[in-house]
Amino acid sequence: MAKSALSFVCQTCGAAYNRWQGKCDACGEWNTLAEEDLTGATTMPVSIRSKRKGRLFTLETLAGKTQDAPRLSSGMTELDRVTGGGFVRGSVLLVGGDPGIGKSTLLTQATSLLARAGHRAVYISGEEAVAQVRLRAERLGLADAPVQLAAETSVEDIVATLSEGAVPRLVVIDSIQTMWTDTVESAPGTVTQVRASAQALIRFAKKSGAALILVGHVTKDGQIAGPRVVEHMVDAVLSFEGEGSQQFRILRAVKNRFGPTDEIGVFEMTGLGLREVSNPSELFLSARDLGSPGTAVFAGLEGTRPVLVELQALVAPTALGTPRRAVVGWDSNRLSMVLAVLEAHCGVKLSGHDVYFNVAGGLRISEPAADLAAAAALVSSLTHAQLPTDAVYFGEISLSGAVRPVAQTSARLKEAAKLGFGRAVLPESARGDIGGDAGLTLDTVAGLTTLVADIAARGQGHPAKATDPEKNATPPGFRRQNG
Ligand code: TYD
Ligand code: MG
Repeated sequence: MAKSALSFVCQTCGAAYNRWQGKCDACGEWNTLAEEDLTGATTMPVSIRSKRKGRLFTLETLAGKTQDAPRLSSGMTELDRVTGGGFVRGSVLLVGGDPGIGKSTLLTQATSLLARAGHRAVYISGEEAVAQVRLRAERLGLADAPVQLAAETSVEDIVATLSEGAVPRLVVIDSIQTMWTDTVESAPGTVTQVRASAQALIRFAKKSGAALILVGHVTKDGQIAGPRVVEHMVDAVLSFEGEGSQQFRILRAVKNRFGPTDEIGVFEMTGLGLREVSNPSELFLSARDLGSPGTAVFAGLEGTRPVLVELQALVAPTALGTPRRAVVGWDSNRLSMVLAVLEAHCGVKLSGHDVYFNVAGGLRISEPAADLAAAAALVSSLTHAQLPTDAVYFGEISLSGAVRPVAQTSARLKEAAKLGFGRAVLPESARGDIGGDAGLTLDTVAGLTTLVADIAARGQGHPAKATDPEKNATPPGFRRQNG
C-alpha cells in the first residue's frame, strides 16, 4: 500500500506531518503548520522510480581549469567587503531584510554597475512591474545601464530564458517568495514552493556558473520568512538592517561559505539611492551629544575594520517593584552582567534604578570589548558625571571585576587618533600590545573599581584622579562596601 503523502508543513522549519498539530515537534514553534499538497514533491510512483536508470556523469579532478576570474567585483566596495571580495561564480546569495529597507535599491545599483562594466546582468522582479523598476532606476540615475529586466514569477520560464545566449554573470531574483514552479502544487510563498523554486534556480546557477542573488523577506521576529530552509541551501546569507527612522543601513553576513562573517558594509539611504560610507565612525559619531552625562565612545571592531560608536545609558530611579532594563543594539544578558559586576564589586547600587541602554546610529554590537565603555556610560549617567569628550573606551569585564585585554588594541587606538580623540581608557594588560607611540594618552585600568572611582570623582567636581573609592564621599546611588 502506498504511504499517504504528508501534508502539514511547518512554515518555519519545513518539517512535514500527516496530521495537524499546534506545535511543531522539530523546531518548537507554535501555530506554524499549514496544509500543503506534497504530491509530486516527495512521492513518485514506485513503477517510475524503479524504471529510471541513473545517468552516468564524469567525475572531475580538483585541479581543473576555471575560465574566468572566480570573483566578480560588484563595483560597490561596501558590498564586496561583506561578500568577501565580490560575487563568486556559480554561488548563491540570499539577501534578507525588512520591507522598505532598501534591498531592491541595493541590488538595482549592483546590477546596473555590473551591466555598465560590460557584464550580462539580469534583474527579475516578482513583486514590481517593469515600469516601477524603471522608475526606481531613473531616480537612481541608472536608467541608461544595460540591465536585462523582466517581471516574471515562473521559475521554469526564468531558467529557460536565462539559458539562452551568453551565461549571465549576475542574476537577481526579487523575491524568492513570489516565485513558483510547476513541479509542486502548493501556493506561491509556501515553504514547499519556496524550497522547490530555490532548488531549481540554485541548480541553474551551479550548472551555468552565473552568480545568483535571491531576495528574501523577513518576518516580524527577524527571521527570513518561510525559507529558513533556503538558508541551508545557499552559499551566503546577508542581512540588510537599519532603523526605519534613520538613514544608515548595515549589510551583515550571517553565513558565508566564501568569506568572513564578521564584516559589515555601511550605507546611507539618500534621495539618490544608497551611498557607500567608507568611514562609518564619522557617521556614527556625527550627531554626538557632547557634554551630557551617560555617553561614552566605544572603540570597536567590525570584522577587520575599527568602528567608533557612541554608547548611551540612562539610569533613573524606578517607580516599579522590578526595575526596567531596556537595551537597543547590545546583548541584554551582557548588560545584566555588567550591572551585576558594578553592584557586587564596585558598590554601585542599581537595583532601584531603571536602566535604558542604546547604541547610537542603529549599529548592533556583539563584542565583549564594549563592556568597559558600557560600564563608563552607566556610571556616568548614575552620577551625572560627564565623561571626557575626547576619550574612547574598550575592554572586557570579567565577573571578578577585572578588566581583560581585547584583540587589535593598536587598530582601535589608531582609528581613535585618526578621528581626533586624545585619550583612551583601556585594560592595564593591553600595554604590551601597543607598539611605539599610540598617538594618544593612555589611561589603563586594571579593575572596574578604578574606573568607577575615577568617574565618581569627576561627578563631584574633583577632576583629580582618585584611586581609592573609600576616600571619597559616597555619591548618590552608591553604597559603601564593608571591609
Ligand atoms: P526598496 O529598495 O524598495 O526596499 P525593499 O526592496 O527592501 O522593500 O526601498 C524602499 C525605500 O527606500 C522607500 O521607503 C524609499 C526609499 N528610497 C530612498 O529613500 N531613496 C531612493 O533613491 C530610493 C530608490 C528609495
Ligand atoms: Mg523590494
